[in-house]
Amino acid sequence: MLRTGILLVATLACAGHSWGDTGDNGDKGDEGDKDGQGHPWWMHAVFYEIYPRSFADSNDDGVGDLRGIAGKMAYLRELGVDAVWLTPCFPSPQVDFGYDVSNYQDIDPMYGTLADFDSMVAKGRQERIKIILDLVVNHTSDRHPWFLDSQSSRTAVHRDWYIWRDGKSSKQPPNNWVSLFGGSAWAFDPTTEQYYYHYFYAQQPDLNWRAPAVESAMLDVTRWWYQRGVAGFRLDAVDRLFESPALADNPVLPGRNKLGDVVEDEKYNRALPEIHGVLKKLRRQADQANAVLVGETWTDTMEQLKQYYGDHGDELQMPMDFMFATVNQLSPHAFRRQIAAVEASGGWPVYVLGNHDMVRSYDRYGDGRHNDAIAKLMAAFYLTLRGTPILYYGEEIGMENNDPKRKEDVKDPVGRRGWPAEKGRDGERTPMQWNGNVNAGFSKVPPWLPVPPSYAGHDVAAQRKDPDSILNLYKKVLALRHANPAIREGAYVAVNEDDANVLSYLRAFSGKTVLVALNMSAARRTVTFDLSRNGLRSPHLKPLLVTQHARAEGSRVQLNPFSVFIAQVNWRDSVASGPRYRQNRP
Ligand code: NOJ
Repeated sequence: MLRTGILLVATLACAGHSWGDTGDNGDKGDEGDKDGQGHPWWMHAVFYEIYPRSFADSNDDGVGDLRGIAGKMAYLRELGVDAVWLTPCFPSPQVDFGYDVSNYQDIDPMYGTLADFDSMVAKGRQERIKIILDLVVNHTSDRHPWFLDSQSSRTAVHRDWYIWRDGKSSKQPPNNWVSLFGGSAWAFDPTTEQYYYHYFYAQQPDLNWRAPAVESAMLDVTRWWYQRGVAGFRLDAVDRLFESPALADNPVLPGRNKLGDVVEDEKYNRALPEIHGVLKKLRRQADQANAVLVGETWTDTMEQLKQYYGDHGDELQMPMDFMFATVNQLSPHAFRRQIAAVEASGGWPVYVLGNHDMVRSYDRYGDGRHNDAIAKLMAAFYLTLRGTPILYYGEEIGMENNDPKRKEDVKDPVGRRGWPAEKGRDGERTPMQWNGNVNAGFSKVPPWLPVPPSYAGHDVAAQRKDPDSILNLYKKVLALRHANPAIREGAYVAVNEDDANVLSYLRAFSGKTVLVALNMSAARRTVTFDLSRNGLRSPHLKPLLVTQHARAEGSRVQLNPFSVFIAQVNWRDSVASGPRYRQNRP
């Protein structure tokens, strides 16, 4: 599978809060697109990623479509979702399943029509669900008219829309840059006897963002979709927009990747500073449309991630924190560190557990014995953090990866090239499991990818009926998050920071405090909370949501393996200055 290895690579100002009343969590909720505190809609929205090929198949052809998605808006509302990110549904030869766009202003017939798109947006509006699209900004399909023209002659109008260079010598590409999807990042084109650059597949030539016409064409595309009711974009591969014009060789590091290529320090073709100029322009346009920009921002450090917000908060509102997404171990210490780093950065955190390029979180965190309990634990975790969460479809029912067993079954070209070390991304893209019928109720015909044998039970119909299901846990946590201002926007304060097994934190807002305790271990744990240093004397913990019979006796909480304890903290306020929080440990 394309794993991260390949893809990559407060002090709380509480003094001013009015404390004391510890009653219910009544809240007026969002008014229009801003909440009572004037926060923009996306800060309190719950996002949900849909891979359109695999979500809902309305015409039983084995591939999902927009009418299918429109038909599931009520399900998404019931779940507690406020915005949907659709991976690309534009016309495409589907070499990279839509990430090779041949027309940015239409819908691929496989998914429907623009009229279907408009109906889906209208259906979403009825259910108060916004739609955001995936903008493939770095590259187009090699079938896009822009590229076809660019390729036709050295003097074509669109020639400089892509990156063309002479080889170093005959049969030698311009430099040593390697494609993420295998082999040289340069393809020779016999028509004009030059190489073009493609960081991904050869069928995905990179746009040349140094050409002003490229920038204005892309800005036009975003404007066009905003006018159609789109509430924002997820920007694909933003760190790849620019390449150093000198095209110097990248330094080569030791070892080979799973595709057999040398590993490089991508000094000259990743995260160049010019990116930020483009992001600022996209943001200006987004602001005019009250829209949000989410970024596919793979970074190695918090310092790098911070840059994507812009020095003045004028770039991406929601750069995804993949360092959180890839902790990949149930380690309270590792999670505390990452959360504290994001909190300290000043940016609004964006938490993700999985997506269409990563092994499903069910498999990454599951221990093989307690996977369902762990899936609930992880949900209760990232959905109660301060920040905007993005769910990946199927996570809410505990869908697992279904990796191909034979090379001939692999659909993702990366998997065909890298087999067997790299099986590709098919496993995490299988059809949504709607019920226990054949093909999990996704389609009457065999779907484009098979559902895993384990689907029955991990399906929406079955889990709706089971009060203790993963799905019902997601619904309860999301309902709590929407209703409870402390969880939705309260300050995050780590507590019991030395505990290696139980991750605990407070969420505090305007006189309301919630405690979250998560047992990340397979053993029973008892945790005592001394919140006096937080100004909360003799706290009484009133459970709001628990799993596995977790319970409190005074300030002691008993946690069964992988259980969750979320409680309202009520206290007798005997501290003259009111509650205080010390700074989260960085
Ligand atoms: C990132 C997308 O998430 C991935 O699926 C795609 O293959 C590459 N960008 C290329 O567009």
